[in-house]
Amino acid sequence: MKYVIANWKMHGRSAFVDSWCLGFPSGFQALVNIVVAPPAVYLGAASNLLPVGFTLAAQDVSVNMADGAHTGEVSALMLKDIGCSYVIVGHSERRAAGDTPEKLARKLANICEAGLTPVFCVGEPMSEREQGNEWAFVKQQLSLLDKYPDDKPLLIAYEPIWAIGTGVTAKVDDVIKMHTQIKNAYARPVLYGGSVNARNANELMAIDVVDGALVGGASLKPDEFLSIVDAAA
Ligand code: PGA
Repeated sequence: MKYVIANWKMHGRSAFVDSWCLGFPSGFQALVNIVVAPPAVYLGAASNLLPVGFTLAAQDVSVNMADGAHTGEVSALMLKDIGCSYVIVGHSERRAAGDTPEKLARKLANICEAGLTPVFCVGEPMSEREQGNEWAFVKQQLSLLDKYPDDKPLLIAYEPIWAIGTGVTAKVDDVIKMHTQIKNAYARPVLYGGSVNARNANELMAIDVVDGALVGGASLKPDEFLSIVDAAA
């Protein structure tokens, strides 16, 4: 089964959480793994409302594991406690907000220790692709996974930075090439992210080496999100 992950980013209010979670037809059974990542403040509400079979993801986690004086932080153990199964980590928006490789390594370790599954995001800026360096760049980002235990679950999301929120997706051939390289180096499911929407999902989800989608903007519209889920089924 492929994965479709809804990354709401910093969008939504209580009413949106209710309507999104309760908006699926009763008895809805997806043929894909549906994972939903609301803002941290709404994780608890979503955890109580999501249809059976949907799983919950956090968009971030603290570098600190033990409870303590860390104002504003949410630990992997807290996420586990309220029903999260996944944590998005290494997203380009969080890297831009200060997540260094050192911090990401600590986050990965905490996620693993808490029994959660990381969705580890990698992807190159356009300047690297223009110079033919996209694989070298992504490979360097992936090297943080070298010490990740083989027997612990892990998802990788390939999200070229220039495709995120731009309406431009990577070309099918480029997706195949990158996903194949990633999978040859790390035998894990690899999702594609970056402007996935109802119009391009069929083409992207039909690719063998694409194990699902990490969806931002289009995940906020339940109908469009469902079309993407159908495409991945
Ligand atoms: P997008 O975002 O679908 O809005 O491009 C994807 C992501 O950043 O995860």
